[in-house]
Amino acid sequence: MHFLSFTPILLLQLTNLPVLHAAKWTYTGQEGQQYWSKHYPYCGGSFQSPIDIESELLRFDPTLGPVEVQNYDLSSDEQLTLGNNGHSVQLSLPHKMYISSLPHRYTAAQLHLHWGSTSKPAGSEHLVNSQQYAAELHVVHFNSDKYPNMSMAVDKSDGLAVLGVLIEVGEFNPAFEHFLKFINDVKYSDQRVQIPGFNIRALLPVRLDEYFRYDGSLTTPPCYPSVLWTVFRNHVTISHKQFLALATTLYSSHTQDSTAVPLNSNFRKPQPADSRVVLVSFKEADESWINTGLLVPILVGSALGVVLIMSLICCLIRQKRAGPRQDKNKGAGYNIGEKDEYGSRV
Ligand SMILES: *[C@@H]1O[C@H](CO)[C@@H](O)[C@H](O)[C@H]1NC(C)=O
Repeated sequence: MHFLSFTPILLLQLTNLPVLHAAKWTYTGQEGQQYWSKHYPYCGGSFQSPIDIESELLRFDPTLGPVEVQNYDLSSDEQLTLGNNGHSVQLSLPHKMYISSLPHRYTAAQLHLHWGSTSKPAGSEHLVNSQQYAAELHVVHFNSDKYPNMSMAVDKSDGLAVLGVLIEVGEFNPAFEHFLKFINDVKYSDQRVQIPGFNIRALLPVRLDEYFRYDGSLTTPPCYPSVLWTVFRNHVTISHKQFLALATTLYSSHTQDSTAVPLNSNFRKPQPADSRVVLVSFKEADESWINTGLLVPILVGSALGVVLIMSLICCLIRQKRAGPRQDKNKGAGYNIGEKDEYGSRV
């Protein structure tokens, strides 16, 4: 298994470190991400997330089957807690939801989002070939075969599995509306509201068989390298209005604070891939050359080829018209052959 092959080393490292005390952190400014490692040493360590998922890092793995999730279709009778934790909007998930397609059962704990701002809409954490999307959904699960709850699993190298969904602005998404319509009730940090359950599966892309898989970390302090990441290849959309609701409604400050601090652009910058590979569950013809500098040379080459073939046809027609003279000059066929060979080399 490629899956967390570094387990023994990390388990040692994680258990030997002192308990970390909570410190406030932000995405920009005095406590911004470049300073996270001062209070949270793992943030400056290895196996950090997110990453830019670039073609050079990819390796097809034929053993990666479709992601399978169980009991994601929640009844509206079930109450979920939607909250603002000052860093994101988070929805608690019942423990009956789990991922069944990994070597251990990974039980759902919560989902949350990362997003951009109205002036800079790009706010996903993972990038694909350096492209950043408008937002990203993380559905967080813990290894319930080995750990009793999220807090016991969060710092273990095989503790967590997160499903990442890249979000673009486009069509209205009715599934996201199930919780976005309540975000006015959690404008300020530490506010909560109970909302009816809905089908969580509908937040994921239709295809769960195409994804990127790698070993990484929490994308927020304390940045434990405890996450088996699955980032789906296919994106989902939310409407411009839905994106605006996300980007303009929430504050990272508390109700009673004198200055309201907007909660947006809550994404961590891509981290070094180092020696990591990203496993890919899908294989297909590489069409990336279309977007590279190869396109123009290929078009010019083809155009030259067409011109050569045209001139050859012209030559042939002329020789035919020349009639009897052609018989005397059989060598013409040989000359044409030479040109043909040259033409094919272009
Ligand atoms: C998690 O499990 C441990 C060990 O059983 C327990 O001590 C702790 O109180 C639990 N934490 C929560 C938040 O339930």
